[in-house]
Amino acid sequence: MRTGRFIVIDGAEGVGKSTQAARLAQYLARDSPAPLVVREPGGTPAGETIRALLLDPRSALSARAEALLFMASRAELVDEVIAPALGRGQTVIADRFFLSTYAYQIGARNLPEEAVRAANHFATAGLAPDLTILLRLPAARGLARAAERGEHDRLEGAGNAFHEAVERAFMLFNEPYWQAAHPECGPVVAIDADGSADQVFARIVAAFKARWPESGEAGIRNQEPVTKS
Ligand code: TMP
Repeated sequence: MRTGRFIVIDGAEGVGKSTQAARLAQYLARDSPAPLVVREPGGTPAGETIRALLLDPRSALSARAEALLFMASRAELVDEVIAPALGRGQTVIADRFFLSTYAYQIGARNLPEEAVRAANHFATAGLAPDLTILLRLPAARGLARAAERGEHDRLEGAGNAFHEAVERAFMLFNEPYWQAAHPECGPVVAIDADGSADQVFARIVAAFKARWPESGEAGIRNQEPVTKS
């Protein structure tokens, strides 16, 4: 039975997801049990092996094979880590989830939406986030930030047109009509990722408090979920 809260931080390259996921975990650290941060692809031994394959610039992968590898990593993470943690009442904070697949594999790779949605449903066994925080920054800015971290991985090196398509897809996910048509993604709140880590985190906390007024410090875990389980 699920009692924990499932929060996703998603967005394009270099928007600061990992930093903000760690900040959020820190913010909720006095919860008991303490929140858990996971990343996609990865987060399990098999998932990390799949991640290495997906991100290695030397990997030659068709778009379908790429999509299915992301799904395999997701299925393993849901079964082995996320669902058990939610069952223990832990808040799980995921660094990427559904929306990345919708942006990269449907939006930018142009794979057929219904097939990818069906595969996604199979991979997650129907698990939907309680809230996705979508960090927004123009693609060129995010890529420049990602480049500062070192060499491009396979996806980062996919070219400007690819990343502009990713950015366009992420913009769409903030639209109420898109969210209404994709209930499997749960509610999505877009946050401007321009500014210092502190400024962006303050916006995330504000979005959190708007949804769960008692959240923060030790408060969030004991709130009733406001969305489907
Ligand atoms: P990152 O976690 O370091 O950002 O790297 C993950 C890369 O994988 C990033 O380029 C986004 C991409 N990705 C997809 O294309 N589809 C997905 O479903 C997920 C989770 C990530």
